[in-house]
Amino acid sequence: MDSAILSLAGAFVLSIIGLFVFIWSLRKGLLVENPAAASVIFARGEIGHTDDPAAADGERRSLQAAASEHGSAGHGADAGELQDRVAADRSSAFPVFMFIAFALFWLILGSAAGLVSSIKLHEPDWLNQQAWMTFGRLRTVHLTAVLYGWITNAALGMILWLLPRLLRTPLHAPVWTMLGGALINTGIAAGIGAIASGWSDGMEYLEIPWQIGIFILVGFVLIVLPVLYTLVNRKVEHLYVTVWYTVAALLWISLLFLVGKMPGVHTGVQQATTNWWYGHNVLGLWFTPVSVGAIYYFLPKIIGRPVRSYNLSILGFWTLAFFYGQVGGHHLIGGPVPGWLTTLSIVQSMMMVIPVVAFSINMAGTMKGRMHLARYSPTLRFMMFGGAMYFLSSIQGSLESLRSMNAVTHFTHYTVGHAHLGAYAFVTMVLFGAVYFMMPRVLNWEWPFPRLITVHFWLAAVGIGIYFVALTVGGWLQGVAMLDPARTFMESVAVTLPYLQWRSVGGTLMLASHLVFAGHFLAMALRFGPQRTGAALFAHSRELEVVYGK
Ligand code: HEM
Repeated sequence: MDSAILSLAGAFVLSIIGLFVFIWSLRKGLLVENPAAASVIFARGEIGHTDDPAAADGERRSLQAAASEHGSAGHGADAGELQDRVAADRSSAFPVFMFIAFALFWLILGSAAGLVSSIKLHEPDWLNQQAWMTFGRLRTVHLTAVLYGWITNAALGMILWLLPRLLRTPLHAPVWTMLGGALINTGIAAGIGAIASGWSDGMEYLEIPWQIGIFILVGFVLIVLPVLYTLVNRKVEHLYVTVWYTVAALLWISLLFLVGKMPGVHTGVQQATTNWWYGHNVLGLWFTPVSVGAIYYFLPKIIGRPVRSYNLSILGFWTLAFFYGQVGGHHLIGGPVPGWLTTLSIVQSMMMVIPVVAFSINMAGTMKGRMHLARYSPTLRFMMFGGAMYFLSSIQGSLESLRSMNAVTHFTHYTVGHAHLGAYAFVTMVLFGAVYFMMPRVLNWEWPFPRLITVHFWLAAVGIGIYFVALTVGGWLQGVAMLDPARTFMESVAVTLPYLQWRSVGGTLMLASHLVFAGHFLAMALRFGPQRTGAALFAHSRELEVVYGK
């Protein structure tokens, strides 16, 4: 038996054993409802207090008033615990700023490359004088810049900000994390340069040459070590579910990257299997847990109410951990791989409904009666949008893995629409929201022009809406045309043309939203705008920090 099949079978057996251990722990009552763990994100007396540092002064008051109508406002929060939070935020501020600044740079570069690639699909003669300008290279530059440059940097920044808060412990050895970040970004820059000049490992999501990948791997290790040290030396007893999601995700991505990039180990069909084992796991075991973990923190924190069911959130975590490992095989349906491998992957893809439904029920319960708070909280809008899109993209993904549906959608633009529903509408929107929440605490400055946050939200939401609908309809028609023996292949290409043009319209709005976001971030970092004493601001004196620095 070759190594790829062996590792898949091993992962399957492990997930089944894990499932039985999980059932056993349920029977033993090890997962009884745990309100103390659900409240760990609040200081004593803080439940009932809303919190959105991105909200302007008036919005903040309306947010609290609207929340108070539906629940108790709680008493004053424990000053000592708030002070601990201020210290935790301080410990991670510099690395977090560094990661987010890198993330924004790659977001602009990556989405510009995405837009140019998109236009090329309906204007194929545009910008093709140089090899690096051709579709094949620019598409890959886009992918590497947005997935590794934007999402990975933003996720790392967010994890480093969240963990000290959740563990009530200052980040250990922040310099190591910065060194790790520098190595990762050197790797990304070198990788993009290599891809543009035609040097690539040639596997989707793993295009960065392995020699450069070493930088990224060492970078991850330098981040994982201080995170683990901080975790072990934490001051809290209960590990909030966000800690489970984010720390596990950090370990998973490091391991995935190590296995996926090992040179000379996988060849032929095995290589394709490993490629998609990596390709889908990077979405499911890195982007997804980080974003789900973020929603589990920010959403309850903003509305001032603990998550509805802590146990359901843990169930979501473990089922994600058990079932995700084999999902990638559904990319190989119809390929020259053993039938059992794709069937196993289809079954596991359907099982993914469990964590998604667990998450959605939990969030609906937590938000019950408080949906309207999104009117006043910019961060909440992004989080709610992202959460809803998690449900949609995961259910769509499970259905796409069915052989009947896959027969139509595989090799069409439909899949690209799905990829953006997950990577953009879900993950990227959640990360936008997280950046809006974190930065006032990190930079000690409010967002200078709060209206720009709303402009950003609507440009991005409408842009991805157009993008997704256009490619879903166009991709489906393309698939149907390809399956029809009476029609020529060129017909299946021509039918997509108007939809590809609409995708460029959606992409232009998305890029415009990113420019607004990056401009606003720059204005904030350069201390533009009025200095207000609203929710967002850490005041200069220590006492006021406690008052405002929630
Ligand atoms: C943070 C923002 C974005 C993320 C995370 C993202 C993610 C992705 C992913 C995962 C793929 C691979 C899809 C697949 O192979 O199935 C992809 C491809 C692509 N994306 Fe994006 N994307 C983003 C923004 C954009 C924007 C603004 C545009 C502009 C139109 C765009 C245009 C494209 C194009 C043209 C492709 C290649 C599709 C193909 O090969 O047919 N993306 N992107």
